Amino acid sequence: MGPQSDFQHDTIPTLFTERLIMRPFAVTDGPIVRELAGNVKVAENTLNMPYPYPEGEAEKWIATHNAEFIEKRNLVLAICNKDNSLLIGCIGLQFNLALGNAELGYWIGEPYWNKGYATEAARAMIRYGFKKLGLHKIFANVYVTNPASAKVLKNCGMKQEGYLEKHIRHWGSYKDILVFGVTSV
Ligand SMILES: CC(C)(COP(=O)(O)OP(=O)(O)OC[C@H]1O[C@@H](n2cnc3c(N)ncnc32)[C@H](O)[C@@H]1OP(=O)(O)O)[C@@H](O)C(=O)NCCC(=O)NCCS
Repeated sequence: MGPQSDFQHDTIPTLFTERLIMRPFAVTDGPIVRELAGNVKVAENTLNMPYPYPEGEAEKWIATHNAEFIEKRNLVLAICNKDNSLLIGCIGLQFNLALGNAELGYWIGEPYWNKGYATEAARAMIRYGFKKLGLHKIFANVYVTNPASAKVLKNCGMKQEGYLEKHIRHWGSYKDILVFGVTSV
């Protein structure tokens, strides 16, 4: 049997790191998600972020998380500061247990940039993907215009595996994408 048979999780996990708690989103997180993710500097670097961010959209998105996890498709966690519980960002792993791989995505609210939070959260998520979900490969797609995110992935031991030219139309222009990846062994 493949790793699929090892999946016995029926609730979204909470992960702890040195400075962070990564927990399931609650519907009450909606307004702060809208505030942080509605920032143009976050939205312009992510593929599926609505912009401008409509009121009520975050709550609808949060309501999808449980089912997507139980259906073994997606793990989305709120990144929170351990000291004061403030929500500072989001990290997700869209996984396919049959293929043994997952795509990592994340954002951190602008007031909290360049403190190592994305790196810390991504390392924990990659560890969870390999150890608990039994994945073999984790990859991420980054716009070439986003060196901070590429650095986060390199910090996590990912290597650049590909360069996809004009791969995605986003906000009216075709974007070049870097593909990063890491395997469990
Ligand atoms: C990309 C993002 C998640 C980084 O979050 P963060 O918590 O600031 O990341 P970290 O502090 O862990 O690491 C950032 C690294 O990039 C470096 N960096 C920051 N801006 C940079 C720039 N313009 N050029 C090169 N490196 C840069 C930092 O120095 C740091 O490197 P270090 O680990 O050597 O110190 C955050 O900026 C963000 O949410 N951006 C908008 C959304 C986004 O891009 N999401 C990812 C989509 S793939």
